[in-house]
Amino acid sequence: MKIVLATHNKDKCLEMMDVLSNLNIELLSLHEFPEIGEIIEDGATLEENALIKARMVHKLTKLPALADDTGLEVDALGGDPGVFSARYSGENASYSDNVNKLLKEMENVPNDKRMAKFRTVMAFVEGEMELIVEDCVKGIITNVMKGIDGFGYDPVFYVPEMNKTYAEMSMKEKNQISHRGKALMKMQKLLQERLYKIFHQMEDLPKT
Ligand code: IMP
Repeated sequence: MKIVLATHNKDKCLEMMDVLSNLNIELLSLHEFPEIGEIIEDGATLEENALIKARMVHKLTKLPALADDTGLEVDALGGDPGVFSARYSGENASYSDNVNKLLKEMENVPNDKRMAKFRTVMAFVEGEMELIVEDCVKGIITNVMKGIDGFGYDPVFYVPEMNKTYAEMSMKEKNQISHRGKALMKMQKLLQERLYKIFHQMEDLPKT
């Protein structure tokens, strides 16, 4: 059985493929569907955006689709950038533009007030079935970037239990404890329970 990962973000795609590699399914990325352009994520919440992406990709590919939407919620900024994390410093902002803006906004925030969390909502859509899970990880926004791995806000997101920023972790390490890794593991559990059923329903479809 095939599942399409409904994201154009190759960093997220690599992480998701890594976590789901032990499922007995063929994971496709949107690179295999070049006709699918940018999907407008105009939902007001992570939940809405995850569903917009999964529904759209399912509609266009007719295959089961899995999408994630993630936001960095910083306490001292009243939960910003949140759903606007990708566009924090403007449309088409690069990862480093966003990180630099965050560090600037946080420049006068003392160390004991720099708490934040990464929250991921994951949506799976296949026909009438829509599954949603979410998870999060608490951390602290550093004063300077640390580490060279990962992407996005990884160099400024410090996880106390690991004594590292996400960017100082390998992908395997990050996936074991991260917001996306944990949400994916929840989704994987739900899918495993239902995959057998979905697969057999598809097998039963009349061949055209
Ligand atoms: P999206 O809307 O889910 O694609 O994610 C919004 C933005 O959040 C991305 O463009 C990244 O800047 C950031 N982001 C999402 N996931 C991560 C992550 O795991 N680490 C660091 N930044 C992330």
